[in-house]
Amino acid sequence: ERLRRPQRGLWGAVLLAGLLSGCAIDGPQSIFNHAGPIARAQGELFIYIFWFAVGVFAVVTAALVYTVVRYRRRGDDTVPEQVHGVAWLEALWTAAPAVILVLIGVPTVSLIFATERRIEPTEADLHVNVTGYQWWWQFEYPELGITTANELHIPTHRRIVLHLHSGDVLHSFWVPRLAGKRDLIPNQDNQLWFIAEEPGTYYGQCAELCLGAHAYMRFRVIASDEASFRAWAADFQGAAQTVAQTLGAEAAAGRELFKTKGCATCHAVAGYAEGQKGPDLTHFGQRTTLAAGWVENTPENLAAWLRDPQAIKPGNYMPTLWAPDDPNRDAEIAALVAYLHSLGRKGEQQAQR
Ligand code: CUA
Repeated sequence: ERLRRPQRGLWGAVLLAGLLSGCAIDGPQSIFNHAGPIARAQGELFIYIFWFAVGVFAVVTAALVYTVVRYRRRGDDTVPEQVHGVAWLEALWTAAPAVILVLIGVPTVSLIFATERRIEPTEADLHVNVTGYQWWWQFEYPELGITTANELHIPTHRRIVLHLHSGDVLHSFWVPRLAGKRDLIPNQDNQLWFIAEEPGTYYGQCAELCLGAHAYMRFRVIASDEASFRAWAADFQGAAQTVAQTLGAEAAAGRELFKTKGCATCHAVAGYAEGQKGPDLTHFGQRTTLAAGWVENTPENLAAWLRDPQAIKPGNYMPTLWAPDDPNRDAEIAALVAYLHSLGRKGEQQAQR
């Protein structure tokens, strides 16, 4: 009786954890909710291997239950017959795992090689250099002259070829609905390709423990049709030239502060600042999130982020630029928010801010 109560509680907790863990098959980060050929092949491989696991579990459990029941201690203390070595049984349990290993190993290894096949640049594919940093992502499009962060814009139905690098420690690129995981390793050029079949936003996550804010190292893949993607790229390329002339007074003050407060030491804005340590902010006003996918990119969140970055994303390397009693803090933050949100936005929206 004493043992049963905690046991019942334990099973209840396991069941509840399963229900609450959001392991919904059609969830936004479910590998079963695939939206491209690589994720589909990975999902199907998982199901294929899963049935082998079910078979092994069933056989082992049946043998265990049979043995426990059949050879349980009965009232008498007689020693049962002692058996040493059964050749056919030993041959069977050596051969069966070997066969299973071949059956799951061959498709697994061939899928791994298929996804990292070296693909030379051509017109048909889109190549993107992905660099992982603690704790954010840089996406560089060498053919388009675009560098951005934490949001990977891609066209649908085109092969996206990623060249994966790391600026510091190991990270891992994973967008469960599209592709991954593949590690980003310093001084190594890892490749991964995938295709998005449907327009939409796909959620990604660093899948390799990289200390501090690893859990907050998220990103988004934003897939749109070819025309929308081209419009996005053209807009991005044009943003660097047009932004300075059309700023309102507050944003213009923010632009000055971007240099005097030291933002430009770490962040780049095409045509204005060249910092390399932090995310490129050229098109920042168009990003949907900040702090590597962690919070929505609203003026309120951006102001809170500038005021105290550690409160939003503990462990990150963004410094706190104002002492709490600095009388200029709120006005300077407001100016920087106006400037940063003007980046990559059209003149009309800038005027409103
Ligand atoms: Cu980067 Cu975990």
